[in-house]
Amino acid sequence: MNDEQYIVVADAVSRRFGNVQALLPTTLRIERGETLAVMGPSGCGKTTLINLLGALDRPTAGRVLFRGIPLSYSDRDVTDLHRRDVGFVFQGFALIPSLTAVENVELTLVARGDNPATRRRTAERLMDEVGLGQYHHRFPEEMSGGQRQRVAIARALAHQPALILADEPTGNLDQQTSRAIAGLLIERAAETGAALAVVTHDPGIAGRMGRIIQMCDGALAETPGRPGSAAAGFSQ
Ligand SMILES: Nc1ncnc2c1ncn2[C@@H]1O[C@H](COP(=O)(O)OP(=O)(O)O)[C@@H](O)[C@H]1O
Ligand SMILES: [Mg+2]
Repeated sequence: MNDEQYIVVADAVSRRFGNVQALLPTTLRIERGETLAVMGPSGCGKTTLINLLGALDRPTAGRVLFRGIPLSYSDRDVTDLHRRDVGFVFQGFALIPSLTAVENVELTLVARGDNPATRRRTAERLMDEVGLGQYHHRFPEEMSGGQRQRVAIARALAHQPALILADEPTGNLDQQTSRAIAGLLIERAAETGAALAVVTHDPGIAGRMGRIIQMCDGALAETPGRPGSAAAGFSQ
């Protein structure tokens, strides 16, 4: 496949922080609509890789391409990408405490320039879709961890991104809630056709993804799972 057939390609990207080589030169291609788990011990570079894929960070060397086009890292380029193409779900939820749940979801749509009535309708529909129909006007502190993460998922989906990046989205939740939340993410990504990359330590969650990559000491280690995926999406 050509690079434009992938939603995102990390092309020989590496990242160094001072003396720490957080990510060795790594090539990873994610197909449109693909689901991918990223696993590996703490400190092995998972967050570094996810942040580079989502342009929250800039590689020391190498390139990141969206739909085949290399990111320039101009403010404009990065802002456009975050407004249109990428949705993030973080371990700590990252909700704004002074806004209600539905207002948190609406925030994504403010950046897109939707009018207030449309914005509210869309946010309410997304809240309903993540099973929070009764909780539109709750504040984050009035919600459980699982409910907060459902709000964060609704927010990440609001602008219909083509790529959802989730960095240990269930790291603070008990196993049963974790798996329900991961299931919701997988289901919502599939319904919108978005590609989904999830950092997780839970083999039960990873096993539901189309591909699993293992990281170790700043490098990709192996790709069990789909036959042929090494040639299609992964090399080092
Ligand atoms: N901003 C930073 N400054 C310095 N070192 C960092 C920074 N971010 C990550 N690192 C280091 O890079 C390595 C990989 O970190 P990270 O990608 O967060 O790992 P993981 O998400 O797998 O736990 C670790 O050694 C970490 O300490
Ligand atoms: Mg991490």
